[in-house]
Amino acid sequence: MTLFIGVVSQKGGVGKSTIARMLGREYALAGWNVKIADLDIQQGTSFSWQARRLQRGIEPAVAVERFGTVSQAVKAAGPYDIMVLDGPPHATMGTHQIAETSTLVVLPTGLALDDLEPTVLLAHEMVKKGVPAERIVIVFCRVGDSDAELAEARSYVLQAGYQHLRNVLPEKTGFRRASDEGRAPTETRFSSLNERAEAVAQELADLVQSQTNREAA
Ligand SMILES: Nc1ncnc2c1ncn2[C@@H]1O[C@H](COP(=O)(O)OP(=O)(O)OP(=O)(O)O)[C@@H](O)[C@H]1O
Ligand SMILES: [Mg+2]
Repeated sequence: MTLFIGVVSQKGGVGKSTIARMLGREYALAGWNVKIADLDIQQGTSFSWQARRLQRGIEPAVAVERFGTVSQAVKAAGPYDIMVLDGPPHATMGTHQIAETSTLVVLPTGLALDDLEPTVLLAHEMVKKGVPAERIVIVFCRVGDSDAELAEARSYVLQAGYQHLRNVLPEKTGFRRASDEGRAPTETRFSSLNERAEAVAQELADLVQSQTNREAA
């Protein structure tokens, strides 16, 4: 059975495609048969990223395909162990379909209230539509250097009733540069950045595993 991981947000540019590609690369490296479903048909960001990756011959190869709808992606998921659903820039009907389909729904967000509020509202909407809160995880991305800001964001999310990752993705030019070269955030030129991204990927993979175990029980 294919396992689905959804990456969605209410706001654009928060790091959905970055996280989707990181998961795609890490699962591929670990020997899983993984596909990223790029559901952003207007930009096809992950699809273009894969083209850059192929041009450079970067291993492991990460399969990416564009789909116009979540249903089409689900129909094509059969051959894969894992499908990562890279959501469109803004929450749409498709966002809720992604949430309903996924074992883990990842909500990347910035730390400002302007980012946190719509993130939590989207989570509330998902729960209202029947997605269990424990399937939702908020990931802080593009994090600046203020510990106080991060601490406040963590408590905002916890008070709203959701879990967040302990590990965060800092805002670093190195991540953008890696992406420009068809590389994942775990494949930058800087081992310190790669380690930060690996920690985020590992924590997400652990959550996927525990959620899978819980649902099988
Ligand atoms: N941690 C980071 N540090 C620096 N740049 C980042 C980081 N995360 C993402 N970016 C850059 O920010 C831009 C938006 O990131 P990304 O494409 O992952 O967001 P998205 O949520 O998928 O956007 P969209 O809503 O348009 O699909 C990209 O140029 C990406 O390289
Ligand atoms: Mg994107």
